[in-house]
Amino acid sequence: MRKLMLVAALGAAALTFGIGSVAGQQAGDVKSLRGAAPTVELAPPDTPHQDVHGRFDRAYRQQPPLIPHQIDRYQIDLHANQCLGCHDWSVAAKNGAPTLSMTHYLDRDGHQTDTVAGTRWFCTQCHVPQVDAKELVENTFKPSQTK
Ligand code: HEC
Ligand code: HEC
Repeated sequence: MRKLMLVAALGAAALTFGIGSVAGQQAGDVKSLRGAAPTVELAPPDTPHQDVHGRFDRAYRQQPPLIPHQIDRYQIDLHANQCLGCHDWSVAAKNGAPTLSMTHYLDRDGHQTDTVAGTRWFCTQCHVPQVDAKELVENTFKPSQTK
């Protein structure tokens, strides 16, 4: 019985390592900032998001507004944030885009800053574009105020 369990365990280990090495090969030379090879799969290409005029209603008071346009061409990483090219206070009027809310210019100690706060750098943490599609599972969510 013991022997059987050992064989099963070895088999499982071989399977795990086997799968691990395939994932490792797919990741190629990609490395994290700390030098480790990534364990997550790269994001799939952007799905067709809506490009609408105007703004979406907010479903509750504190909601980060939904993005009414496509975003697949705008890069956000450690060094670059292309959203700011239209939405930063210094260029928004010129681009006809809504200025970042002033809450985005407060550092974590509450001091006002002229450049966007680090805590707001990764816009898509909070703001998401929309796809006009039927929901995959039934959703009974209702806005907090329906008029
Ligand atoms: C080329 C300029 C441009 C870029 C780049 C851009 N936007 Fe926009 N964005 C706009 C414009 C213009 C609107 C307003 C659309 C309208 O009123 O029809 C808008 C609207 C929005 C809104 C809705 C605001 C509200 O109050 O409803 C959000 C949120 C937003 N953008 C987030 C982003 C994010 C996040 C990125 C980067 C991934 C980004 N935008 C990149 C031009 C841009
Ligand atoms: C931690 C979450 C968070 C992040 C990150 C964030 N936002 Fe927001 N954003 C919000 C919330 C919540 C609001 C609405 C409340 C407010 O005004 O603060 C908002 C408001 C906005 C508005 C509407 C302003 C207005 O007055 O209509 C725009 C445009 C916007 N954000 C763009 C961006 C862009 C571009 C980035 C990245 C540089 C970004 N946000 C990062 C949460 C976030």
